Amino acid sequence: MAIFEIKKYGDPILREKAKVILKVDDGIKKLACNMLETMYSAHGVGLAAPQIGVSLRLCIIDVDLNKKSPSVMINPVIVSCDENKISGREGCLSFPGFYENVKRHDGIVVQYTNLNGEELEIEVQSLFSIAIQHEVDHLDAKLFIDYLPEWKRRFIEKKIKRNRNAGNW
Ligand code: NI
Repeated sequence: MAIFEIKKYGDPILREKAKVILKVDDGIKKLACNMLETMYSAHGVGLAAPQIGVSLRLCIIDVDLNKKSPSVMINPVIVSCDENKISGREGCLSFPGFYENVKRHDGIVVQYTNLNGEELEIEVQSLFSIAIQHEVDHLDAKLFIDYLPEWKRRFIEKKIKRNRNAGNW
């Protein structure tokens, strides 16, 4: 296993739509293992493949504090959403140090393929649901700051620019 560098905001791959995975082979399994190690070492609860520079539709999520039940989702598709929305403080490993409130659907139904190549459909709510929506967004080149009012997004971008100029990004 290996720990990868996590791409930060500004890297063009984060704005690329990720490609569908055609076959769950050893390469995909290895990618998932490396992503898990990378996510845990960065203390994250979710990571999408583009964040380590691989433009494929694969994401991993583990919202459990024990870090013992990660979900590996290949080609996840959100097939339905609750009307009800909830607001939660979100961060992103591609935006170290930034946390903002984002409104998302409470309940969703998601279809995906697991590492055994089985197609599954699950209904989830709250934290797990929010994490899946955040990661599926990554696969569609969407980032959590896109949900913020423009003034706030500009403010964050200015701060990031300052960090970058100081060599801290
Ligand atoms: Ni993220």
